[in-house]
Amino acid sequence: MNQSIRIAPSILAADFSKLGEEVAAVAEMGADLIHLDVMDGHFVPNISFGPGIIASIRKYTDLPFDVHLMIEPVDNYIEAFVAAGSDIITVHAEAGPHIHSTLQKIRALGIKAGVALNPGTPIEALDNLWDLVDLVLVMTVNPGFGGQSFIESQLCKVSALRRKISQLGHPVSLSVDGGINRETANKSVQAGADTLVAGSAVFQLKGVTYSEAIEQLRNP
Ligand code: DX5
Ligand code: ZN
Repeated sequence: MNQSIRIAPSILAADFSKLGEEVAAVAEMGADLIHLDVMDGHFVPNISFGPGIIASIRKYTDLPFDVHLMIEPVDNYIEAFVAAGSDIITVHAEAGPHIHSTLQKIRALGIKAGVALNPGTPIEALDNLWDLVDLVLVMTVNPGFGGQSFIESQLCKVSALRRKISQLGHPVSLSVDGGINRETANKSVQAGADTLVAGSAVFQLKGVTYSEAIEQLRNP
């Protein structure tokens, strides 16, 4: 049993008409984190939801809320997402312009900070940020939509990040996001990922319970 792997269902693929129940269901069925994809129609070509929705579903579980902000600019919204109940806020290295101060701001508000890297962004983007980073989110699709195909070239990035993280003096989670299914979960874990974000492969598998879907990803 691969219990050290954390599964973070992305509610982007859930039934939005009963979001609270969906969150409670995956929490009860073995999820470790709830992944919340915030999209602004500007940094990414899609619009999802904001802090109001997050605050309204906060009461459905005690699991950590792993909030992935695909918005630009981001700084003016950090406080609202913390107030909504975020436990980790992940911002994109590409969303700039001052990622170092954005991470400082998140940490100063008492929660964990993550950095997401788009498929075209090298790991060197993290070079001067490591002391402020609790989580790295490797985008294994270009961000904006659920249900896309995993980009295999990102596995090398995961391996390189695992080597880098093992040399740091503090723990950093290494998460992959996009196109995660049993096969790509296995490849990602082999490459060094410890957290798997999955939308379609949790919420949209036919004939499979949420519990089975989560365990299949944890033990692919
Ligand atoms: C994409 C989002 C992902 C997405 C994953 O921009 O960051 O979290 O919901 O969806 P699947 O697992 O369906 O690829
Ligand atoms: Zn995401």
